[in-house]
Amino acid sequence: MNKALEGVKILDFTHVQSGPTCTQLLAWFGADVIKVERPGAGDATRQQLQDLPGVDSLYFTMLNHNKRSIALDTKNPKGVEVLWRLVSECDVLVENFAPGALARMGLTWEKIHAVNPRMILASVKGFGPGPYEDCKVYENVAQCVGGAASTTGFRTDIPMVSGAQIGDSGTGLHLALGIVTALYHRTHSGLGQRVDCAMQDGVLNLCRVKLRDQQRLAHGPLKEYSQYGEGFPFGDTVPRAGNDSGGGQPGRILKCKGWETDPNAYIYFITQNTAWEKICDVIGEPTWKTHADYATPKARLPHLNEIFTRIEAWTMAKTKFEAMEILNGFDIPCGPILSMKEIAEDESLRRSGTLVEVDHPTRGRYLTVGNPIKLSASPAEVTRSPLLGEHTEEILRDVLGYSESERVKIAESGALGAVQRIAAE
Ligand SMILES: CC(C)(COP(=O)(O)OP(=O)(O)OC[C@H]1O[C@@H](n2cnc3c(N)ncnc32)[C@H](O)[C@@H]1OP(=O)(O)O)[C@@H](O)C(=O)NCCC(=O)NCCS
Repeated sequence: MNKALEGVKILDFTHVQSGPTCTQLLAWFGADVIKVERPGAGDATRQQLQDLPGVDSLYFTMLNHNKRSIALDTKNPKGVEVLWRLVSECDVLVENFAPGALARMGLTWEKIHAVNPRMILASVKGFGPGPYEDCKVYENVAQCVGGAASTTGFRTDIPMVSGAQIGDSGTGLHLALGIVTALYHRTHSGLGQRVDCAMQDGVLNLCRVKLRDQQRLAHGPLKEYSQYGEGFPFGDTVPRAGNDSGGGQPGRILKCKGWETDPNAYIYFITQNTAWEKICDVIGEPTWKTHADYATPKARLPHLNEIFTRIEAWTMAKTKFEAMEILNGFDIPCGPILSMKEIAEDESLRRSGTLVEVDHPTRGRYLTVGNPIKLSASPAEVTRSPLLGEHTEEILRDVLGYSESERVKIAESGALGAVQRIAAE
């Protein structure tokens, strides 16, 4: 079976998380992703948060599946020569260096476009054009400047960042979409183009509903926010809404049996209007179906605390899974708060390929997240991340067409680092 992106060659000049997330997705779809890494060190995440001494970290292995690695010093003149050969051969160059770093290596868009007019240059930066365009940015900074932190957490507490890596992996996803769109455009224009994703923009795109609320504030309080029912006035900006639902159907996280000792014995419960009568029956409040304070969504808004306290009295008598089963039977939207341990042990996620076990030569077997995007005609097969420089020789030989004597010269120049050897053909 052909892979969707078979034949697409990616010069993967990414590191840490945002860029690697993007190129990993493209690799899962079948692109040949050639990761260029600094000899001896490689992507900094190889050594970050190491759980096993001397073994590529899970940080690295879980973000770099299905790729090939070439160790190349792009500050060595011979290394620069090889890099340009890669530029000529590949379809897409993906990078997430600090602003200016690519140009300092001599890779300006003008030069890249002149050498390979079909090449797409895809970049992640922290900010787009503006006062902060030269700044380095990591995940949590992006969450703070993109509107996520100011709108996450509780009204009475400090701003909060999310466990979901919406700045890094979120921007990687945006970039991947930009790349396949540019590849499609190239099929009729014949030309590459630049794809730029700023992490601030990516986070803001995911916080779209909060910018919606910012504008709604001009016309009165946000009535679906708990603080409305609690009688706390709104200021001039969107407040943190705790676990209130972001949509028009009020929802909360409620305690379930065992909450006193289990930090995840909770369920998310949504009082969807169409399910309201069933909710009243399930929790044993059938008179609420017609009661003036509870019968309509508008009437319920000032009473959300009271309503959810009553529902919680019901959920606290059940485990989160028991509650889920009963509520699903009535089509009432809800979801248990799953711990990472519960997710890691989830059989259905393993069956669907969203969780996969992968073998690694120095690490052994480990669990990872597979491709969450399922294509019916070209399913993703997850293969391990490369060792540093593992494919240097085959890339020089098979992708770039260097002869044996040329490869020896490249190795002797030091461009491949000290450990690289060119074996005789
Ligand atoms: C993530 C980030 C903060 C990391 O910063 P950093 O560790 O200081 O790394 P930089 O990107 O600044 O620099 C990389 C350097 O390594 C060099 N380098 C990279 N690969 C190389 C190679 N194969 N051979 C030789 N040098 C190499 C670059 O040329 C650059 O050197 P220079 O600064 O002297 O020009 C920064 O890259 C960044 O802001 N990226 C954009 C936003 C982003 O993606 N952030 C999220 C990361 S998950």
